[in-house]
Order: sequence, then structure tokens, then C-alpha cells
Amino acid sequence: MIYAQILAGGKGSRMGNVPMPKQFLTLAGKPILIHTIEKFTLEARFDAIIVVCPPDWVSHARDLVAKTIDDPRVRVIAGGAERNDTLMKGIDYIQRTFGTHDDDVVVTHDAVRPFVTERIIHDNIEAVLKAPAVDTVVPAIDTIVQGQTATIAEIPVRETMYQGQTPQSFQIKTLVASYAALDDAQKASLSDSCKICLLAGHPVTMVRGENWNFKITTPYDLRVASALVEKRA
Ligand code: CTP
Repeated sequence: MIYAQILAGGKGSRMGNVPMPKQFLTLAGKPILIHTIEKFTLEARFDAIIVVCPPDWVSHARDLVAKTIDDPRVRVIAGGAERNDTLMKGIDYIQRTFGTHDDDVVVTHDAVRPFVTERIIHDNIEAVLKAPAVDTVVPAIDTIVQGQTATIAEIPVRETMYQGQTPQSFQIKTLVASYAALDDAQKASLSDSCKICLLAGHPVTMVRGENWNFKITTPYDLRVASALVEKRA
């Protein structure tokens, strides 16, 4: 089975003083979350599309989905405190609801990247059917400088540097086993889901992203996103 999981369990604290988590803010008349779900409903190969929200926002999200998305594959459930808790709650839901099969895969995506394309989703599916884990990346444009506090420790060769986006896609069996092998400190500190599989020694395939598949994080990003959708309309 091929699943999609939309990670919408965050608070959006870097968005500043807004009345709701950023994934529910409006972009061109529609919540950002709905823009993102719509991109996934265009892909016929998904057996189910799991949307994972903050527990207090599940009923709001269910109402939004019921009003705007006519697709029985979409289900809304509650997420966890950290991004990887949300990820694993979605995986647990999939396994309890649909059972476990060795060849199950999941394409996971940040709810706040509404400009993901059909091509990126398609390439993730194709890649994860052949590899244990997949990351969507774009080549680094700026030089990446590694440092701590005030001084530079290293300047890696830019041609080998990429910026990670989502989707990140996984063979579910590999992801579950890799996560179980982490200790509590690793589970708490890991901010990237592909690193779960990297730490367990699995190769992670790279799929080409797009610069406009950016994550809406700050008020500036929201202004850029609004300008982009207005231009396309
Ligand atoms: N996310 C999630 N569950 C969490 C935390 C984050 O599903 N417990 C999701 C967010 O909803 C978002 C994506 O992960 O779609 C990327 O995370 P980020 O941009 O860091 O979102 P927030 O944690 O909401 O933002 P902030 O760090 O500014 O609070």
C-alpha cells in the first residue's frame, strides 16, 4: 500500500502573533493545509492520505476537510509534541487501521509547503518503491558555513551541499525498525526524519525538489506565498 501523511501537528511559533497554528492561516481564500491536501489528492496511487494535526485542532481540521475536500481517502488524526512524534503517530494509525505489509511505503510532507508539485510527489513514490528512504532536496545556492557562536569551523564544498525539503518518503518497515533502535535522547533531539534511517545505516535517496517548494515559517514567507498564489491566479 502507498500512503501519504501530511504533518500538520506544529504550533507555528515562528509565525509570531497569529490566532491559530500557521497551517490553518488563509492563503488566497483557503487554509494553507487545504492547499497542501489538494496536491496529494491529485495522486491516484495513494491508498489513504493521513493528516496529523495538534490534538486541539482535530475537529476544526475535520470540518475544513468535510467542507472543501471531496475525497474519502483523507483522514484527520491527532499528532504529538515533536515533529517525529507526529510522524510516528501517523505510522501507528496506519498500521492499526490498515494492517502491516512488508512493502508498505509512506510519503510524508510538511503541511506548510503548499507549493509541492505533482512531479515531486510522483518522483518520491517512484524512488521509495526502490529504496528504504527518500529525501527531497535542492542544491545549496549560498555557500554553507558551519560554525558555533562567533567563528567558522568549516566551509564545506558547495557542490556537495543541498537543502532538505519534503516530501520525505519511507518504507514503513524500515522506518519503524530504525526509530525503535534510537535511544530516548536521540528521539528527542532528532529534527530530521531521514536522519532516523541514516543513523540506522540505511541509504537515503535524493529526489530533486524545487525552490518554490519552500516551508512557510515566518510572516515574510507568508507574504511571499501570498504573492506567488496571486501571480498564478
Ligand atoms: N509539525 C508536526 N508536529 C509537530 C511539530 C511540527 O506535524 N509536533 C509539522 C508542522 O505542522 C509543519 C512541519 O512539521 O507542517 C514543519 O515544521 P515547522 O515549520 O518547524 O513547524 P512548527 O513546529 O509548527 O513551527 P515553529 O518551529 O515555528 O513552531
